[in-house]
Formats: sequence, C-alpha cells, structure tokens
Amino acid sequence: ATKYRPFPPVALTDRQWPSRTLTQPPIWMSTDLRDGNQALFEPMNAERKRRMFHTLCQIGFKEIEVAFPSASQTDFDFVRELIEGQHIPADVTIEVLTQAREHLIRRTMESLRGARRAIVHVYNATSQPFRDSVFHMSKADVLGMAVSAVALIKHLAEAQPETEWVLEYSPETFSATELDFARDVCDAVTETWGATPDRPVIINLPATVEMSTPNVYADQIEWMHRELARRDSVILSVHPHNDRGTAVAATELALLAGADRVEGCLFGSGERTGNVDIVTLALNLYTQGIAPGLDFSDINAVARTAEYCTQLPIHPRHPYVGDLVFTAFSGSHQDAIKKGFAAQAADAHWNVPYLPIDPADVGRSYDSVIRVNSQSGKGGIAYLLESAYGIVMPRRLQVEFSSVVKDHTDQQGCEVNANDLWNIFAATYLET
Ligand code: KIV
Ligand code: ZN
Repeated sequence: ATKYRPFPPVALTDRQWPSRTLTQPPIWMSTDLRDGNQALFEPMNAERKRRMFHTLCQIGFKEIEVAFPSASQTDFDFVRELIEGQHIPADVTIEVLTQAREHLIRRTMESLRGARRAIVHVYNATSQPFRDSVFHMSKADVLGMAVSAVALIKHLAEAQPETEWVLEYSPETFSATELDFARDVCDAVTETWGATPDRPVIINLPATVEMSTPNVYADQIEWMHRELARRDSVILSVHPHNDRGTAVAATELALLAGADRVEGCLFGSGERTGNVDIVTLALNLYTQGIAPGLDFSDINAVARTAEYCTQLPIHPRHPYVGDLVFTAFSGSHQDAIKKGFAAQAADAHWNVPYLPIDPADVGRSYDSVIRVNSQSGKGGIAYLLESAYGIVMPRRLQVEFSSVVKDHTDQQGCEVNANDLWNIFAATYLET
C-alpha cells in the first residue's frame, strides 16, 4: 500500500494540516447476506448465499451477518447449514439479526445452537416518529424493550455455554433519535449485558435513512464516543445507508470521529440506495497508503460473484470496479496517461495522471486503459498501436494518422479498438 501517497505533499497553511487522517482500517462487517439480501427483488437462494459467504470469507471479512433467522425459514436453514456443515472458517464469526421481541429472540438463539462464536444483533427503533406513531411507546418503554431483550439474550446465552457470545445492539433510526436518549439506551444495554473491556458489547449506530450532511452524522458519532458511560467496554460501530449519496463520506468522517467498526455491503448493495459500499471504503484507504485488510486484488471476480448473487448489475462508472473506470476517451487524457505510464518507475509512488490507482492493483490490465473514439487524440492512438502491435510512429505520422482515424470514427460513429486501428493503418499505409 505504500506506493500511494497519503495526501498531496504541499501544506496549504501554517496550521497543522491536514487536521486529521485515517491511520488504520476499521473492523469490517459485511451485511450482504442480511441487509443486502433483504433488499433484492429475489432474495438469494441457498446456493447463492453459500457462494456469497465463501467470497466474503476469501476477501477477508472476519465478521459476516449471515441471516435474519427469525424472519425466514431459508435464513434459519442457512445458519444451521453453516454451523452443522462446519463451513465457518476458524477466524470468522457469524452474526444474525433479531428484533427485540421474545419469541423472535428465542428462535434466533435456537438457530445458533452449536456455533463456536456468534454475534447476536438485536435492534429496536428509538426515534420519536417510531415511538409516537409506529409503536405508541414512551421513551421509558423503548428503553425497557431494549433492556428486556438483552437480559433475555444473556439468559439464553448462559444456557448455551459451548458458544462464545458477543452482543450487538442497534438503536434503529439512531441518526433521527435525540442523542441523550440514544446514549441512555446504549448505556443501559451495556450495563445489562455486563460488558467489560475484555468482553465488549458492539454498539451500532445506524443512519437507517441517511438524512444529513456527512459532518452531522460524524458529529453524532463523536458525541456518543465521548458520552457513553463505559466507552472502554464498547466497540463503536456505524451502519450508514446512502439515501443522500454520501454514505462513504459519512463513514470516513465517522471513523475520524471515533468509530471502530463499519457495517456495509459490497458495491453498496442494500435497502433503497444501499448500505455504504465497503469496496470503495477499503480502496479509498488503500489509496491513502493504508492496508485495508480486505483483498480486492481480483476485483472483477468479486464483482461477477456479487452480480450473480444479487442479480443486479454494477454501474460501469462505479468507483474502482466499473467497466469504464480505467478508460480514457478524451485525447488529452490519453496523451497524459501514455506519458505517465512511460515515466512511472516500478518502485515509485503511483503518479500516472487521471488514474487514481494502478489498475493492476485490482487485477485490471493496462490493455483496456485507453480506448479510441472520435474524441480521441493522437496520443491514445499511438499508445494502442505501439502496445498492441509494436508500431512506433514518428510524431508527424501520429498527427497524420490520427486525422485518418478521426474521419473513420466520424463516419462510422463508433469506437475503434487496437485491432481496428491496425486495419486502418494497414489499409492506409501498407496496402496502397
Ligand atoms: O439500517 C438499519 O437501521 C438496520 C438495523 C437493523 C441495524 O439495518
Ligand atoms: Zn440497514
């Protein structure tokens, strides 16, 4: 990861600059098989779930929310299959979600029987619209609901001592909840579970619907980070959704504000506009010189698996992975990229213009970096002919040939690849 500069090497002011940067990756938790899955036209069947789980393990996730077992038989059965079939790697912990209701908690704990280690993720909504309009509950009722649920999980966990239990609590709609009330509920949960620094509770603070600029969410996280009574016994987790399109920024600021852990999905799968995109977060860290602890060195393989499992396409301009993100159409970009590749020493900081990352780092090849259409210039054309066919054109020939190509693309209205270029070159200069 050291081939990337952490930030531009120019200090803008004499104040400390930049004010803060991320220095380490968070604990990652994939909820592709839960939040991601519940938002699909067609939820994953067992075969797709297996394939997704295997891919998530290969990428390097150590915490994976695999199901909402009390909500569907398929989910319940999948948890049983993972445990009974011993499909969970020794360093991976599975997580399951449950509402804070007695019969659902009992069913959830049953699904986990025999697990080596498990995270039980319990939630109830805490914001005023939910209290008043949906549940008709007072603040005290909502707090009591969370505490009773945690007490029941603790009781059931003690009866299943073969499993190492971790509790996660989410005040759903946290970012719309009065902060002091959210803190009181989280403190009560921490106390009830009997969390200690050696046995911390995960307190997860969702932007269930993203409703503010990223700095506001980060301020909310920072406030909780400072105000939680037993912060040393808490792993502070964030769970951003992307309704305003700023989930990645909100997450990065939340990490700077004190969060330890991030829940999200591959390529931003998930309810509505999705959960935060963990691939973008991880590769953003990578470009800042921080090893993210997740392996996206064959990003196309991960993308194809995600598309197969979700049955949803990834946008061609999706950061780091889209089919077009290592492609330059404009002539001036092509020219600069060509010169950047020629000047780039193997061991130097990555310095190729217009490419924020070396495509090879995510398993993409230089071959597809430059494509040629009617807006392209001589640089891209020369690059393609040289890299594909070893034809080195003198500068004047480059200028002349680029106008031949431009005539061709203007007439045809289409893009040409290296092979087309060769055919035009041969027809123009070799066959006459
Ligand atoms: O978005 C959300 O609030 C959730 C909770 C269940 C954690 O997915
Ligand atoms: Zn969610």
